[in-house]
Amino acid sequence: MFQHLPKGCNALVIGASQGIGRALCAQLASHPQVNQLYAASRSGQSAHGIAVSADICTQEGRQALVKALGGAPLHLLINTVGRLHGEGLAPEKRLESLTEAAFMDSIRVNALAQALTVQALLPHLAAAGQALIGHLSARVGSIGDNHLGGWYSYRAAKAAQNQLNRTLAVELGRRHPGVLLLTLHPGTTDTALSRPFGQNVPPERLFSPQRAAGQLLAILEVAGPQAHGGFWAWDGSAIPW
Ligand SMILES: NC(=O)c1ccc[n+]([C@@H]2O[C@H](COP(=O)([O-])OP(=O)(O)OC[C@H]3O[C@@H](n4cnc5c(N)ncnc54)[C@H](OP(=O)(O)O)[C@@H]3O)[C@@H](O)[C@H]2O)c1
Repeated sequence: MFQHLPKGCNALVIGASQGIGRALCAQLASHPQVNQLYAASRSGQSAHGIAVSADICTQEGRQALVKALGGAPLHLLINTVGRLHGEGLAPEKRLESLTEAAFMDSIRVNALAQALTVQALLPHLAAAGQALIGHLSARVGSIGDNHLGGWYSYRAAKAAQNQLNRTLAVELGRRHPGVLLLTLHPGTTDTALSRPFGQNVPPERLFSPQRAAGQLLAILEVAGPQAHGGFWAWDGSAIPW
């Protein structure tokens, strides 16, 4: 049970069509505390909850989320949206591969979209009184933990997301102290995002999406004010910023 949340919660997972988000939806759909589940992605595909088609990188997409909620309070928001590779974006191994277009795209998807989504949903989170936000980031966004280098755009965008999360947590603490925000690292998980880069990960460190989702929900279930504004790994340990 989510210690911070009341019974009969409304939950929204963004990034629900694939990977960790899809596994989160499967588990939240049968969670005894969840009353209504909203499952959003660009494709709008979900086997669980109310499927919502929304691209959170656009104002229109963020408004589609607001419309789907229809004035309901939002107790649990988990945003899994992230992009490591795809058209026009590949993790850079060396400085010469860094381009302005790919960098700006990474910042938009991996950092800015999360903050603007909270901006759009803030009235719904505030209306819940007690609410939890879980923003999926990545350990590679930690500046203090960066000993390997590489992946300039993704690392910088996740670091930017972390700073936005931290800044937002401070403001929430002042304006809406019942709304807690946790920055979460899911661990390396076998999804479309990580698959091209998972070959060197030992099997015991490569999680299934189901296991990753269960571990993230376990962190959110015990989260209270002491966890607010922190950067937490899948096992509940704190990650340096
Ligand atoms: N997998 C790992 O090993 C790993 C490790 C560390 C951190 N992470 C982080 O964990 C998060 C989840 O990763 P994942 O592996 O589950 O990724 P994934 O398998 O690529 O899934 C991403 C999900 O986000 C949706 N999405 C992408 N862009 C969107 C947008 N603009 N608006 C709405 N939905 C969008 C995708 O569906 P549509 O295409 O239908 O929109 C998909 O459902 C990411 O933030 C990632 O950086 C993952």
